[in-house]
Amino acid sequence: MSRPAAGPSVPPAAVLCGLAGWVPSRVVTNEHLARRLDTDDTWIRTRTGIHTRHVIDAGQATSDLAVEAGRRALASAGTDAVDAVVVATTTPDHPCPATAPGVAARLGLAGAAAFDIGAVCTGFVYGLASAAGLIAAEVARRVLLIGADTYSTIVDPLDRANAIIFGDGAGAVVLRAGHPDEPGAVGHFDLGSDGAHADLITVAAGGSRQRSQQGEPTREERHFAMRGREVYRHAVTRMTESARTTLSRAGWKIDDVDHFVPHQANLRILHSVADDLGLPRERCVTQVESVGNTGAASIPLALADLTVRGAVRPGDRLLLTAFGGGLTWGSCLLTWPSLPVTPQERTTP
Ligand code: UT7
Repeated sequence: MSRPAAGPSVPPAAVLCGLAGWVPSRVVTNEHLARRLDTDDTWIRTRTGIHTRHVIDAGQATSDLAVEAGRRALASAGTDAVDAVVVATTTPDHPCPATAPGVAARLGLAGAAAFDIGAVCTGFVYGLASAAGLIAAEVARRVLLIGADTYSTIVDPLDRANAIIFGDGAGAVVLRAGHPDEPGAVGHFDLGSDGAHADLITVAAGGSRQRSQQGEPTREERHFAMRGREVYRHAVTRMTESARTTLSRAGWKIDDVDHFVPHQANLRILHSVADDLGLPRERCVTQVESVGNTGAASIPLALADLTVRGAVRPGDRLLLTAFGGGLTWGSCLLTWPSLPVTPQERTTP
């Protein structure tokens, strides 16, 4: 008996099967900031929508948050084994080595492939695409992807424009090999960058450019710098374009989107993008009010918050869109799977 001719095989898709968020317990209110900076609650709320943010204590680091979120995501997925651990961060514990191998070891995942992704606030979406690639290439059957940042370690506490926006946090997902048509499968994607505007968001010192020069870096060079107004304009344009490109790749209309989950940069940016897309604001997921801008953690944290609030149901369709330094941007679509919601998935301790 002759065997049927082999048809083109469909590569496995990355399917969301675990999710959790974690933010440190210390809350910094606008009033706290107004005690040491020339600012006030009204200015911060009106310009950014932010009321509070969470900040690590002295001695803590990004990996501590990543481990907490990662542990909870693994529990939510009902697994203690993955083939790869990917950490998206702009605030690694050290310039060398990467943060992911240490996180993997602390989670009992030593032996798994482990590496960091540096795409600033777009890191989580780049991470989803990377995890999907590892799974499609059958390098990994299961990936733990963590977005974790502690901007409080790089923002100058005396810089009122940036100190008010950023908060610390981590969000994590587990992705497993599955079928592209099943709920939870990630994709389509759009990813992009424009390095001609690299100077809009920087930490000037700490890398080879500075270390190969004579002399110590200045205070300004050691801290995070952002040309806020210009970044704001690029963020709105790029996020809107990326969202549109991704929808058209999938043949979705904006009305097909039940939840738009943008990188939580600034409430006004999120609302502008929703308005430009023609999306009702109530379908735009926001958490920036309570946690601030948490960099690569913001999208998985917002997803975890959505599940804990019971605001997303299996079958709902989601559009994730991010923008960050680089400049970088990216979007991803997914249909929500059935995920167990346990108290462990709470975003706050
Ligand atoms: O996550 C990755 C991407 N990041 C973003 O997408 C963030 C994008 N940018 C922003 O969210 C906003 O640009 C900021 C929140 C950073 C700043 O808001 P803005 O409305 O763009 O303010 P601005 O920097 O244009 O400053 C307007 C005024 C200035 O005063 P003058 O020059 O008009 O007298 C600032 O000095 O507001 C002043 N200002 C403040 N006043 C009170 C700046 N920060 C503060 C503050 N409190 N915290």
